[in-house]
Amino acid sequence: MFANAYQGCRVFITGHTGFKGSWLAAWLTQLGAEVCGFSDTVPTLPSHYAALELGSQLVRDLRGNICDRSALRNAVCDFQPDIVFHLAAQALVRKSYQQPAQTFETNVMGTLNMLEAIRACTSVKAVVLITSDKCYRNNEWPWGYRETDHLGGQDPYSASKGCAEIVAHSYFDSFFADGEAPRCATVRAGNVIGGGDWAQDRIVPDCARAWAAKTAAKIRNPWATRPWQLVLEPLSGYLWLGARLLLGQNEPFDLRGQAYNFGPSSDVNKSVAEVVETLAIHWPGFTSEMNTTKPANMNECTLLKLCCDKALAHLGWKATLTFDETVRYTAEWYRYFYNGDARERPQNMMTFTLGQISAYTNTATQRNQIWTQK
Ligand SMILES: NC(=O)c1ccc[n+]([C@@H]2O[C@H](COP(=O)([O-])OP(=O)(O)OC[C@H]3O[C@@H](n4cnc5c(N)ncnc54)[C@H](O)[C@@H]3O)[C@@H](O)[C@H]2O)c1
Repeated sequence: MFANAYQGCRVFITGHTGFKGSWLAAWLTQLGAEVCGFSDTVPTLPSHYAALELGSQLVRDLRGNICDRSALRNAVCDFQPDIVFHLAAQALVRKSYQQPAQTFETNVMGTLNMLEAIRACTSVKAVVLITSDKCYRNNEWPWGYRETDHLGGQDPYSASKGCAEIVAHSYFDSFFADGEAPRCATVRAGNVIGGGDWAQDRIVPDCARAWAAKTAAKIRNPWATRPWQLVLEPLSGYLWLGARLLLGQNEPFDLRGQAYNFGPSSDVNKSVAEVVETLAIHWPGFTSEMNTTKPANMNECTLLKLCCDKALAHLGWKATLTFDETVRYTAEWYRYFYNGDARERPQNMMTFTLGQISAYTNTATQRNQIWTQK
């Protein structure tokens, strides 16, 4: 798996208490990595991080603010990682309207501080910086955005991710271009779903909260179309890219300083309404109310697709699951969480989560995904 690059590898992850970061940290521990996590808080209650008692599985479980440049540099230099995955961010579009300055500070200056910490730490060989599909200037095109398309973003969150991309590629070109420097890349994924997300104003967490309270979920923007994918799909791309950057040998394409989209195949772009309808199939008793009124002063795009041909050409990466499988994994995680025995939950949820990772990698192996080969 992943060319065995993570066995005994020292990995520094920011945002490990968040939804994607906690899945990534759990997967890396399963792969035999020594993981240090750096995050300011646990962002939700409940959380995937707490449900797994993930902190006890890590070599270090640090609390700090990525806007504090010296604290972040000290944490990285002290741990001496081989590779860094940077996921910490203010990740919510709605919150970015309420706290635009804090969103830009965290997402732009936080990325810059991460790059400064990497400059200061000689052990780092590879870096994967996570931005977003929303970094592109959205033209409501019906086709997928390519890595060479204009960056942009109307709402503060999307714009902050476009800015983070510009900062990162400036550092790649200015400081990380020569042969001995850390090999770095940015990654842009679409909307991820999966068990353990309890963020505000996201469709699956909204449904999970409503289902747990035995009420109908209120669905905003049912017409919005997104490249939905299971959280493990982009993570397989990040891990495979990270492994290739770490190993850095005999690459037909130079991966350094590149940006990669990781999304589902283009026929898996579905509307919010289709996600909700498919969840209802795998989530007995689930009901919803579709709200078709757009909130005032909110300008979130309605159509966003990614073209992932570059990840296929350079890395041999493509998505594994169908849309129905993606929603089924998600529904099963929440059903297990809400129906399981609360006293045994942390142990159970870690076992269950690692079981989902194993099931996903088995499916990927059967479907000949390149990163599963020895
Ligand atoms: N979830 C999605 O659908 C999605 C889609 C595209 C891109 N992304 C990106 O992926 C990354 C992870 O997203 P997520 O959904 O796991 O987000 P999340 O909100 O669940 O987690 C965010 C993490 O960042 C940490 N964090 C936030 N501000 C911080 C600060 N100032 N200092 C230190 N840590 C801080 C939080 O503690 C948490 O660990 C983000 O960069 C996000 O923009 C997510």
